[in-house]
Amino acid sequence: MSHRIYLLPVWLRLWHWTNAVLMIVLAITGASLHFAGSGPLLVPFSLAARIHDIAGVALVATYGFFVVANILSGNWWQYVPKPPGVLGRCWRQAVYYGWGIFKGDPHPYPPTVEANFNALQAIVYWLIMYAVVPVVVVTGLVFLYPQFAPAKMFGVDGLLPVAFLHYIAGSVVILFMLAHIYLGTTGVRVTSLFKMMITGWHEE
Ligand code: HEM
Repeated sequence: MSHRIYLLPVWLRLWHWTNAVLMIVLAITGASLHFAGSGPLLVPFSLAARIHDIAGVALVATYGFFVVANILSGNWWQYVPKPPGVLGRCWRQAVYYGWGIFKGDPHPYPPTVEANFNALQAIVYWLIMYAVVPVVVVTGLVFLYPQFAPAKMFGVDGLLPVAFLHYIAGSVVILFMLAHIYLGTTGVRVTSLFKMMITGWHEE
């Protein structure tokens, strides 16, 4: 008989899917701005710029909501990998993803109410949500209000390093999203984790 636990409150699920839609819109319009004029799949420049600005401002709001709601609900604690043995648990998890999963081994650290994430997941989610996304948000805001950018940085126009950081951090989020969607298929069934992110219930 399958066992179910309720893991994800409704605010977290609403944030997650709003954030996912915004990130996809930002990725498509961001690529259209970056590779402007070279490809039939790209959104026309001025339309892409408008949509990117609007979705970016919405992302600032949803990111602010994420941080505040995580603090108030205590969910931020899930993102902190708990010693001892963090590296050892990360290694065991990586070996599972790279090898054990293909032999049908059981998940080494199935989610519980106390520890929703395995150690590897906690570290990656923490880095993305509290290091990389803030860089995307802050550099995006500087782009929106370029009067706040320094006139010169490292001997070049102050907006150039901002553009570089925005591009690199945005690309990291896109790479994360691709790996994240693949790992989303590694529940008991291919669809289980996606269903969990909709209903809040984890199936074992
Ligand atoms: C179409 C795009 C996406 C899909 C299909 C997707 C799918 C999922 C799934 C299945 C889970 C549950 C598995 C787990 O707990 O690890 C999850 C959780 C999560 N996702 Fe995504 N995701 C998407 C985009 C994103 C993006 C763009 C971000 C951040 C930049 C993100 C951040 C997270 C975080 C932080 C969690 C854990 C939430 C928590 O329990 O506190 N996801 N996602």
